[in-house]
Amino acid sequence: MSELATKLDHVQTRFEEAVAAATDERALDAVRVAFLGRSGEVTTVRRGIGALPPAERPDAGKVINAAVERMESALADATARIENRAFEAELAQSVDVTFPAIAPTTGSIHPVRRVLQDAVAYFERHGFATVLGMEIEPDYYTFDALNIPATHPAREGFDSFFISDTLLLRPHTSPMQIRTMQSHEPPIAVVAPGKCYRRDAVDARHLFQFHQIEGLLVAEGIHFGHLKGMLTGLCRELFGADQRVRFRPSFFPFTEPSAEVDTTCPKCKGRTSACNMCGGSGWIELGGAGMVHPNVLREVGYDTEIYTGWAFGFGIERLALTRYDIDDIRRFVECDPDFLTQLA
Ligand code: PHE
Repeated sequence: MSELATKLDHVQTRFEEAVAAATDERALDAVRVAFLGRSGEVTTVRRGIGALPPAERPDAGKVINAAVERMESALADATARIENRAFEAELAQSVDVTFPAIAPTTGSIHPVRRVLQDAVAYFERHGFATVLGMEIEPDYYTFDALNIPATHPAREGFDSFFISDTLLLRPHTSPMQIRTMQSHEPPIAVVAPGKCYRRDAVDARHLFQFHQIEGLLVAEGIHFGHLKGMLTGLCRELFGADQRVRFRPSFFPFTEPSAEVDTTCPKCKGRTSACNMCGGSGWIELGGAGMVHPNVLREVGYDTEIYTGWAFGFGIERLALTRYDIDDIRRFVECDPDFLTQLA
């Protein structure tokens, strides 16, 4: 037995030297055959078992098997080491690991959405809730309840896409005034942003699908000054600290008095006559506003002796054109990634 163990030790020592000397997989294979192969050195040692006294044979077998296991795992380690080295050599040749990585293209928030989010955030900060309506509305919510009877010429102003005789793609967000007031008692303070549709010919200033943000405040003692304050704050939030707003008398059936709202041109600040954003007027038109018409409050069952309110509706694309000094509203829907990331 001890003679066999000594032999095995020798074999193992030479095996380890051979493995260490092997530099590629072929050399390793040769080592495997020479030591563990059918006529390899370990097999020769194993044959010696026959010459041992029968009582020693099982232990001798175990010692040899353990040695074989160690050798096999040494071979596996060596193989992995060699493969790794080969891979690294290949990598070093073909890849410059110091080269800057290719950055994955990431999206950016669309400018229209960004303006919408900023406007909504401003109102939420002032205690308004955000409500989202449906893009298809019955004519009742779009017109009748907003004090626009069937025969009223104001309906023509909202050149609408009709789905059926009474259903249409909403041409403004004002239906949400009615829906909110019908389902809630005053005081009401909401904004309703969302998509609107009108049968407008597409040009640099018009899209047939666009966004509005509606605002509605109804409570006791609400007056025009509150409207002016909130809209001035909105313009300062979106365009800068020195913005002012002005109201021009106008007409909407659902407000009285009604106004068109302008803000000082953020580009020229009203100073130059050659400004291509405001056309030299110094003002940018944002949308409509006014005090909620008593007929509208009555329609939803509010007591007009107690409650008054204001409402406004602004075009979000209009706000975004002004904020980012964009020449053509169609850019918002052309999805040119270069254009969109510039504004990100
Ligand atoms: N809904 C009107 C429009 O789209 C805007 C508006 C809203 C005017 C609220 C007054 C009050 O033209």
